[in-house]
Amino acid sequence: MMPMIQFKQVGKRYNGIEVIENLCFSIHKNDVIGILGPSGVGKTTILKMIADLVTPSSGTIISHAKRIAYVFQEPRVLPWKTALDNVAIPLLPLGYNYKQAREKAAEQLGKMGLRGYEGYFPVQLSGGMIQRVSLARAFAIEPDTLLLDEPFSALDIGLKKVLLDMIKEQLKAMPVTVLYVSHMPEEVVQIANRIFMLFSKGIMEELPVNTDELIKTKLSDFIDKYRTAETAVLPNG
Ligand SMILES: Nc1ncnc2c1ncn2[C@@H]1O[C@H](COP(=O)(O)OP(=O)(O)OP(=O)(O)O)[C@@H](O)[C@H]1O
Ligand SMILES: [Mg+2]
Repeated sequence: MMPMIQFKQVGKRYNGIEVIENLCFSIHKNDVIGILGPSGVGKTTILKMIADLVTPSSGTIISHAKRIAYVFQEPRVLPWKTALDNVAIPLLPLGYNYKQAREKAAEQLGKMGLRGYEGYFPVQLSGGMIQRVSLARAFAIEPDTLLLDEPFSALDIGLKKVLLDMIKEQLKAMPVTVLYVSHMPEEVVQIANRIFMLFSKGIMEELPVNTDELIKTKLSDFIDKYRTAETAVLPNG
């Protein structure tokens, strides 16, 4: 099978400082990839390179993604537009007229539990609600590739579960290649069919995830490794 996205010896330096080094991995169409790793290890940088917002300093990225939706780590919504328009406006260049775009936006906001908030401006919404507006906007454009950068960091456990289930439903109805970045193994195992752990620079390990049983056994193992990696990275920020 042809890979959807392939990193070939990709490196990234910011101001001469190497953040990613010699990174190689490939993912297939409709893979749901979980990317775990300690803070500052380069997870967001990987997503930005896939979205072409950051250019690799070396190596090559081969991508067959045609329509990418990106839910940023820091939610980016237009403050002067309502929740509805924030979701509807990106649909206009895709050929929807304004009425159709607003209908589609309302439907997606409803799926995110935001029915009744269509007319609210971002300043009137909570952090978690803004994250849900961003998710609604991402799904509304029917992407072939969905980049989720810790989309649930501002949500409580209950809502997280509800939204993860909702995303799983959406993915069943409309398969998408997903890269889901998170700090939380327990979040990632709920959604991913493949899990990568970025330890440092170019060291990314794939964890075998086949059955529920394997997930359970591997998880504790892997959380230990994760904690060690996290501690190791802390002194340098
Ligand atoms: N625009 C930039 N200019 C300079 N350095 C940057 C820039 N963006 C990221 N970095 C550095 O690159 C490293 C990786 O950052 P990145 O945001 O990719 O990490 P991350 O794994 O997403 O972290 P977190 O889990 O905290 O979000 C960090 O050391 C960061 O300081
Ligand atoms: Mg990040």
